[in-house]
Amino acid sequence: MIENLRQVAVLAKARLAEAADLETLAKLDVEFLGKKSAVAIAKRQIAALPAEQRRDAGLEINATRAEITKALGAARHRLEQTVYQKQLEDERLDLSEYRHKRRPGSLHLVTQARDRLEDVFVGMGFTVAEGPEVESAWYNFEALNIPEWHPARGSFDTIFVELGEPEEVMLRSHTSPVQIRTMENQQPPIYIVAPGRTFRTDTADATHLPAFNQIEGLVVDRNITMGDLAGTMDEFVRTFFGSEVKSRFRPSYFPFTEPSAEFDISRPDGTWLELGGCGMVHPNVLSNCGIDPERWQGFAFGFGIDRLAVLRHELDDIRELVNNDVRFLRQF
Ligand code: DAH
Repeated sequence: MIENLRQVAVLAKARLAEAADLETLAKLDVEFLGKKSAVAIAKRQIAALPAEQRRDAGLEINATRAEITKALGAARHRLEQTVYQKQLEDERLDLSEYRHKRRPGSLHLVTQARDRLEDVFVGMGFTVAEGPEVESAWYNFEALNIPEWHPARGSFDTIFVELGEPEEVMLRSHTSPVQIRTMENQQPPIYIVAPGRTFRTDTADATHLPAFNQIEGLVVDRNITMGDLAGTMDEFVRTFFGSEVKSRFRPSYFPFTEPSAEFDISRPDGTWLELGGCGMVHPNVLSNCGIDPERWQGFAFGFGIDRLAVLRHELDDIRELVNNDVRFLRQF
């Protein structure tokens, strides 16, 4: 009997070590420790043994049971661990799924318009220039031929910064000061565009924002005429909007250009949208920057980028651009 129990223990341990799931384990539990198991049968047989053999047999039965019970516990622990791992595996969050489901963001439509404008002008041979958003009266006005007494100064609705002398430092009211900064630092020929933020005391309404964007253009070279300006604007409109959009000049006045014109483009409904101003750079402006107006001529233009975006996407209200409503922004 003892020999038989040793074999049972070896067999039980081997089968338990191989068990692949908890169900199999339950069956092995019944097979090796249940009522019909070798251990149970041996226990029942003890009574029939001669008295002097009972003790050894009893010890052997208990040792076998203990061995099998221990192996069973180890197998259960192993299998439960496996089940737990599988559960973790199954319930794991696939983060890439969330990432792919999330809609990627996109550039703001004013940024898109600005990028396209840069592309169009770079394609025509211009380079991109920049200037500060806080300016001095010299760059924002004086060098542009708008002295302190000049009535045009009031029309810019300037936002002043409390720094230095009164009305000496301001948020730039147009991108034209970048013309001055460029000419101060660079000899002609000059072909630049300067997009950027501009500020005025305007109250926001359907067609105005107090913080808006302009793009300035400046060309200084030999023998530049109004025809070059017209050709440049025409080419720009065609590239930016397509050939169905028309443009026109209206005579106008700006202190920094002579002659000056206002620049309109046609809307789909046949009306005209005022985009900005342009003209031949005033000789005083060239002289203010150390460029000889006898030898060099130039043209300049400046217009609103936000209005271009409004027109291009047929928005009803320019304020949509700054409301930051994602449902609106998502469409672009
Ligand atoms: N700076 C002008 C404005 O904001 C627009 C402008 C007009 C710019 C004529 C120019 C120009 O360069 O030549 O109203």
